[in-house]
Amino acid sequence: MGLKLVIGSFCLLYACHKFVGFWRAIQSIKNHPGHRLIFSLDNIIGSLLPKIKYLSLGRNSAFLGKHDPFVLFGSDIYSVVSISNNIQTTFVLADAAAIKEVAYSRARFPKPVHHYKALTFYGRNIVASEGDEWKTYRKISAPAFSNRNNKLVWDETLQIMEGLFAEVWENKDVISVDHFLETTMLLGSGRFGKKISWTEDGVTMAPGHQMSFKEALHVVTTNFIIKIVVPKLSSGEQKPEFSNITSPKQTIQTYENMPQLTYCLAVFYEALRLFPPATTIPKISAEDTTLTTVDINGGRVNVPVPKGCHVSLSAVGLHYNPRYWEDPHAFKPERFLGVWPRDAFLPFSSGARACLGKKFAETEGIAILTMLISRYKITIKEEASFAGETFEERKERVLSTRRGMTITPVRMPLTFTRRT
Ligand code: HEM
Repeated sequence: MGLKLVIGSFCLLYACHKFVGFWRAIQSIKNHPGHRLIFSLDNIIGSLLPKIKYLSLGRNSAFLGKHDPFVLFGSDIYSVVSISNNIQTTFVLADAAAIKEVAYSRARFPKPVHHYKALTFYGRNIVASEGDEWKTYRKISAPAFSNRNNKLVWDETLQIMEGLFAEVWENKDVISVDHFLETTMLLGSGRFGKKISWTEDGVTMAPGHQMSFKEALHVVTTNFIIKIVVPKLSSGEQKPEFSNITSPKQTIQTYENMPQLTYCLAVFYEALRLFPPATTIPKISAEDTTLTTVDINGGRVNVPVPKGCHVSLSAVGLHYNPRYWEDPHAFKPERFLGVWPRDAFLPFSSGARACLGKKFAETEGIAILTMLISRYKITIKEEASFAGETFEERKERVLSTRRGMTITPVRMPLTFTRRT
């Protein structure tokens, strides 16, 4: 009886302590509208649970919600106060000016490096560091991303694509793949500085190894999330809107011609706008400060951001924000051909911590797109099990994503038909 009383009193005290902390956190941000939760956005238990009111926002919530939560809470900054992680307050931003202010003020809003601990299992690195350590990594890495090396990326990518067409697809007229991601994983192998052949070392096991290079890439990319959660355990017809990128003029090109492939870049950007791989970019507030945004009527809203609060730059919220993008849910590459709102485009982050490989990724992406599209017409693979589905159902199936390290397509079954 005595022990029960002690335990009961302890639980009550703990609950009161948590409640007071939670209440104070809400007061400190003047009850700025937002979610009130048990599990924070980055809590592992919360990310495994489905969406449950007041408990968890569920997996992949940042991507699935698009700009809707900002509409729900009445402005382009909303708050999330959660009891887990020692009472955590996070501000989620979809306001271009506020995001720019945060991204360009590295001292006021550094990276919360504890968020990136899972990325250090292969050692300390540029992405997971801050301060002087980060400066050292950046200084060492930056020269590798030169124009000369980007030309190399272009030439290597063309060669890898030629290898794909000749060695794997055997120049056949029609090729169907169950999941195109499997193919793109090998395309990305150039990043590992390894010249691979599609038929030899890429897919067969080298002596003294336990898996082929392709299998290794598959394990690393697919099982990344398992590694993060349990690090100890694992050391139809082409859609009409896509059809106009098949301009016959976009045949094999040289790196020097890349600036002219404006439509290809526009397609690449539009895909990144709709599906930014990093849905949110985390920062932390190093001082008591204020951010400003607007409410749905265009009125100014000042948001108090106390020191220690998390600040999440929502690439998805920004990319689907109708204040910046007309008809934001539609795939319209043309929007990137004229003048477009550069501060409202965040797939590569921005400021001092922006992606170092942006030009690398664009070069590789455009090289792959031009090679594929100039040689093949791309359609969704016809499968008997999905016969009879409507266009909208098919679109939802093929474009559905899941959250790993970044968002990835669940399954992308494609058919490539050689152009005549
Ligand atoms: C479409 C492809 C890519 C996207 C969308 C992308 C996106 C990003 C984003 C959002 C960040 C900021 C991450 C953060 O703040 O935590 C980042 C950082 C970085 N990315 Fe990329 N990236 C891409 C491709 C690449 C490639 C191909 C490379 C290298 C070959 C690369 C190298 C880096 C590096 C080194 C950083 C850290 C920069 C720093 O902190 O100073 N990225 N990337």
